[in-house]
Amino acid sequence: MNKDISGILCDEAELDSIVKRLAGEINRDYAGKSVVVVGILKGSAIFLADLFRRLEIDCTLDFMAVSSYGSETIPSGSLRIEKNLSTDISGKHVLIVEDILDTGNTLYALKAYLEELHPCSVRLCTLLDKPSRREKPITADYCGREVENQFIVGYGLDYDEHYRNLPYIGILSPSVYRK
Ligand code: IMP
Ligand code: MG
Repeated sequence: MNKDISGILCDEAELDSIVKRLAGEINRDYAGKSVVVVGILKGSAIFLADLFRRLEIDCTLDFMAVSSYGSETIPSGSLRIEKNLSTDISGKHVLIVEDILDTGNTLYALKAYLEELHPCSVRLCTLLDKPSRREKPITADYCGREVENQFIVGYGLDYDEHYRNLPYIGILSPSVYRK
């Protein structure tokens, strides 16, 4: 195990079964429909690659890179878009794929932004959810697993851009970020 990891939260076998279950739910709910899958860079990339290969519905793939700042009275007003869609989502079903739902600030603002583009529907699929941290009223339509309030890395999730390559999700030793 990587020396900076104090424990494994989700090993490769568990990740595989989570992805399989989520893909099953998505395949069932969108049967006969067409979906624009929007991966949120960079954290969702590894999860998305595994999930997307298990989708059996008609789907296309696009990416956004976003972050949120401060609080604004217009929900989408706090969204900073670093990379926008290259797909016209008007009249389409959109499925956002994210690594982790934490305070919810980013996804709350992103959902509001996407809804202004008149899609047919917007749903959210997140690998992990930290409900105890929530600051905005947002829930995932598809959730891999709820986690405690601890800092986790691997399988796409980073600390200062590192550890995304770990094939499992591990708890980062506090000694790393207290340095
Ligand atoms: P929020 O929901 O707007 O607070 O932001 C969610 C984003 O914070 C995620 O997309 C991650 O990039 C990041 N994040 C939150 N918790 C963790 C964690 O435990 N490890 C790594 N990144 C995290
Ligand atoms: Mg992220």
